[in-house]
Amino acid sequence: MTTIKFRNKLSFQLLVMIVISLFGTILVMSVLSRPIFELIRLTMNNENLLVVQASVAFFGWFFIAIVTFVLIFIMLVRKKILYLKLISDTVQHIASGQLGQTIDIKGKDELSQLAMNINYMSQELEHKFIQERQIEKEKNELITNISHDLRTPLTSIIGYLKLIKDGQYRHQEQLHEYFETIYSKSSRLKHLIDELFEFSRLSSPDVKLNLSRIDMTGLLQQIIGEYIPIFEEQQLTVEKSLTDEDIYVVIDIEKMVRVYENLFINAIKYSQKPSEILISFEAEEHTTILKVSNRIENPPKESINKMFERFFKGDNARKDAQGTGLGLSIAKRIMELHHGDIYAEYKNGWITFTLLLPIKPK
Ligand SMILES: Nc1ncnc2c1ncn2[C@@H]1O[C@H](COP(=O)(O)OP(=O)(O)O)[C@@H](O)[C@H]1O
Ligand SMILES: [Mg+2]
Repeated sequence: MTTIKFRNKLSFQLLVMIVISLFGTILVMSVLSRPIFELIRLTMNNENLLVVQASVAFFGWFFIAIVTFVLIFIMLVRKKILYLKLISDTVQHIASGQLGQTIDIKGKDELSQLAMNINYMSQELEHKFIQERQIEKEKNELITNISHDLRTPLTSIIGYLKLIKDGQYRHQEQLHEYFETIYSKSSRLKHLIDELFEFSRLSSPDVKLNLSRIDMTGLLQQIIGEYIPIFEEQQLTVEKSLTDEDIYVVIDIEKMVRVYENLFINAIKYSQKPSEILISFEAEEHTTILKVSNRIENPPKESINKMFERFFKGDNARKDAQGTGLGLSIAKRIMELHHGDIYAEYKNGWITFTLLLPIKPK
């Protein structure tokens, strides 16, 4: 809050107005006094006039003086009163829901400061209101998406269970097939619920990281090593270029491994086959940079970083009902919790995910 100069203070201004009104009254009354006192003098000499009339004239003089004072004072204070009324009307509008309304700032006194504070409050309220509405909208969308995604496998499980219950299968092999389908749909349901659980757990503002110091190069070597056979099985050749240095970072290992695995699994699921997967890792002064690239058949239709929005599924994922659309939004959240970043780029048939992670001081 800014301090108001003494000469701009409302109390000082009112005092000045009172003094001006007083002088104005004296001026007016000194002009009017002559005929009034003349009248009183006449009364004293003229016996035809009663003393009562003289007193009336005298009190009349006082009355005129007071009225003059009040009129001058009202004239001087009028602008402030109108401004106060404007403030009061605006506050009433804000209270009745017209958030974001503001008052023109006039002067530098307490009233203008009040107006400034009301403007701030009004804009903050509007901002909060819009934010709340957005959260509400996102929540509704989330519930719709979750319901849809949970219902699809569940409907199919119930359908197959009904077939079995009603004995609607021709032979043992068909029964076995139904069980297989039920099992895979149930697994998908469990995976979806696990991801949802993880997502909501990570979204909570008081999520805690289980931090420990680890050599990131070693960790990546190990995970990539575990994934190479899976990549190869899918006709994907890995070309890796990792730094030779040990690079120590402080991370929640379990969560970070989840990010890497999601990137590798995505590369397996969504890349063109046969092709290559490029993995590079290096460190700059304050940041580690991991890049994972894979080939894709068609360039992304929408803005590439939409992939990080929850429940975003590309055509390739929607076609065979793979994926939950949560993996990359979970990865993004984990990177943010580590004060890092993750983003994607597309160039000449290649999609590249870049992960930046700050190196903590040793
Ligand atoms: N490496 C990748 N190559 C091509 N598309 C990808 C890749 N990773 C993710 N995507 C696209 O982004 C979408 C979101 O990915 P993600 O959040 O991991 O969810 P999910 O894998 O469960 O669908 C995927 O459906 C896919 O269309
Ligand atoms: Mg995924």
